[in-house]
Amino acid sequence: MEKTLSFLLLLFSTLFLISSALELGDLRVPWAPRSPSSDAERLIRALNLVPRDPSADLTGGASGVLDGERRIVERSFSLADGVPVDELGHRAGYYRLPSTYDARMFYFFFESRHSKEDPVVVWLTGGPGCSSELAVFYENGPFNIANNLSLVWNDFGWDQASNLIYVDQPTGTGFSYSSDKRDIRHNEDGVSNDLYDFLQAFFAEHPEYAKNDFYITGESYAGHYIPAFASRVHKGNKAKEGIHINLKGFAIGNGLTDPEIQYKAYTDYALDMGIIKEADYKRINKIYPVCELAIKLCGTTGSVSCLASYAICTTIFNSIIKIAGNINYYDIRKQCEGSLCYDFSNMEKFLNQKPVRDSLGVGDVQFVSCSPTVYQAMLTDWMRNLEVGIPALLEDGIKMLIYAGEYDLICNWLGNSRWVQSMEWSGQKDFVSSPEVPFVVDGAEAGVLKSHGPLSFLKVYDAGHMVPMDQPKAALEMLKRWTQGTLADVSYDTENLDAVM
Ligand SMILES: *[C@@H]1O[C@H](CO)[C@@H](O)[C@H](O)[C@H]1NC(C)=O
Repeated sequence: MEKTLSFLLLLFSTLFLISSALELGDLRVPWAPRSPSSDAERLIRALNLVPRDPSADLTGGASGVLDGERRIVERSFSLADGVPVDELGHRAGYYRLPSTYDARMFYFFFESRHSKEDPVVVWLTGGPGCSSELAVFYENGPFNIANNLSLVWNDFGWDQASNLIYVDQPTGTGFSYSSDKRDIRHNEDGVSNDLYDFLQAFFAEHPEYAKNDFYITGESYAGHYIPAFASRVHKGNKAKEGIHINLKGFAIGNGLTDPEIQYKAYTDYALDMGIIKEADYKRINKIYPVCELAIKLCGTTGSVSCLASYAICTTIFNSIIKIAGNINYYDIRKQCEGSLCYDFSNMEKFLNQKPVRDSLGVGDVQFVSCSPTVYQAMLTDWMRNLEVGIPALLEDGIKMLIYAGEYDLICNWLGNSRWVQSMEWSGQKDFVSSPEVPFVVDGAEAGVLKSHGPLSFLKVYDAGHMVPMDQPKAALEMLKRWTQGTLADVSYDTENLDAVM
């Protein structure tokens, strides 16, 4: 049944795409707006399938050798001007993933600037296929990159309140690579198992951190990764697999989690924000019923229907963009400049410098900021509903924070707010009827918060898709209060408290 309907849908969507392509001119793909390329060599290089020097990460001062016994190779480094390596607690590592042919997962680990007792927080950038280094250098990492390519301390790095890990995943993203193309991931099972294996190895390498509170955070397509990863950790804990992971909560910033609801919200948000007019709204909304049907068929495990729904539903987004012109769909106040709508070229320049590469131990592995190969490999995963696993986590007391910058179109706050409110769990009624309270930072309203029990939803003002980039101070405050359990305290404003004390 699913198959027959799916093939019909696929056929339909192909015809639909052809006709809409004629109408639209170009079909822009959100997140990684590049068209699928037939240039096989470029794709292979983009996946890092064949690093020129595959042994590069195994040698040259790393703390161990990546042999059968040891799967993690980690080194301390200092990229801060004049600060000795051992004063920082900054590490870069490769982890050889066990359930793969030859995949190596790259990560950064930044010790908290204040206390080893701070929670351990892992951050995942989305894409799918975009490197978490985007967050390291432009959002919540310890540094920003100056135009002269030197690093400047970020006062609002999340390492001010946590021991912070950034992972490049799925395989083929950032500095992560494999020599075997069978290692590419296509779904959340593959993604979450790799991340779980990594965590086990990480805490085996750093047992002193295993007792700390542990949180999963991230953005955008990580709205898919994070619920799957949190469920995988919780399952491992329950089954007493390996090291117990002290999972306390997970947070998603401007994520894609429940496509059926979120794709419906595009036109509503665009109309509210004046991006499209009433007539456009009515016309584009006609696409939604087919999109909705396809997403329902896709469900949590579909395949052909998921691809079909991607093809159909994406035309909703593309129709809006066509009207909006050169808008930056991550921040509708801005123009789209460059392939990711922002200029992140300093990061690529920085990470391709020989001394930086030597410090990180990445050898000749090519850095891929956003991999089209990984993106395309995950297309069947795109429209799957990742909301379904969340209620079980909430019922077991694991906290969830959904936050969203108000000016993002692509994973807008409206769609996120709607799926969070329609999620069925024991606290649903109380959550929906809970009051909206101001989120105050430095005496000013930085957002509006709704919360009940383990669930919080925060709309962040004056921010687009990348909240920690646009509102670094508010984002750090959010992390602090959320991990400390004081996010919902109305009068809580640490700056004011400091002033009084
Ligand atoms: C690079 O730029 C930063 C920030 O603008 C500045 O503090 C630093 O002195 C500059 N470094 C050099 C070597 O010019």
